[in-house]
Amino acid sequence: MEVIIQKNTDAGCLLGARIIAKLVREKPDAVLGLATGRTPLQLYQELIRLHRTEGLDFSRITTFNLDEYVGLPATHDQSYRWFMRENFFRHINIDQRRTHVPDGTAADVHAECRDYEKRIEAAGGIDLQLLGLGRNGHIGFNEPTGSLRSRTWIKILSEQTLRDNSAVFGDFAQMPRHAITMGVGTILDARRVLLLAFGPAKCRAVTAMVEGPLAAICPASALQLHPRATILLDDTSAAGLQ
Ligand code: F6R
Repeated sequence: MEVIIQKNTDAGCLLGARIIAKLVREKPDAVLGLATGRTPLQLYQELIRLHRTEGLDFSRITTFNLDEYVGLPATHDQSYRWFMRENFFRHINIDQRRTHVPDGTAADVHAECRDYEKRIEAAGGIDLQLLGLGRNGHIGFNEPTGSLRSRTWIKILSEQTLRDNSAVFGDFAQMPRHAITMGVGTILDARRVLLLAFGPAKCRAVTAMVEGPLAAICPASALQLHPRATILLDDTSAAGLQ
């Protein structure tokens, strides 16, 4: 693991965007794995800025998002498909047909999971997977104690995740209890992983991910096995590291 500590979220997101922009320039048909949540918002804003001011070209880029809530249609403003369109895709020149988010409304969600894996494979695998980190150590929606070899599957969201995400969702009672998520095994197959975690609330999970034992109780600790994982932190999320 390569751990990079920046002084704050702004600096961390700028560096993250620079890493992705470099890949997009070097490999214009790259396959990007993307994340939602609060953490990557500024990173997407910087990529949008680079598109507008420097012509960063996404026209041949393919994307696969990590996860989606089961039951939410793409038209729901809390769906991850909606999030990606509003916060990134509609501001750049990406071909919408090359953007993939699991379909949370599929009649057979298990078939959708299998099909998502096949689509990633058919695209040649993921060149760079962007990740955030849950306070409980989750990556994607792989909650503690799930298999570290999992492929895209359905996960029941933990109480902690429901509480954390309900702040954004608005109404706890309305929140879906299940999500489709790439598995930990799917994430580990990406040729490069870039995880961002900022702020004191992530400190404990960061310490467990970087220095803790490799254990299903902290799914992100599986990244210790990845040959090319870059962890971007700020002073506060890194505060527990030796
Ligand atoms: C999002 C995702 C989640 C988030 C994590 C952190 O697609 O898969 O693992 O990255 O819950 O969320 P934020 O960034 O909101 O703290």
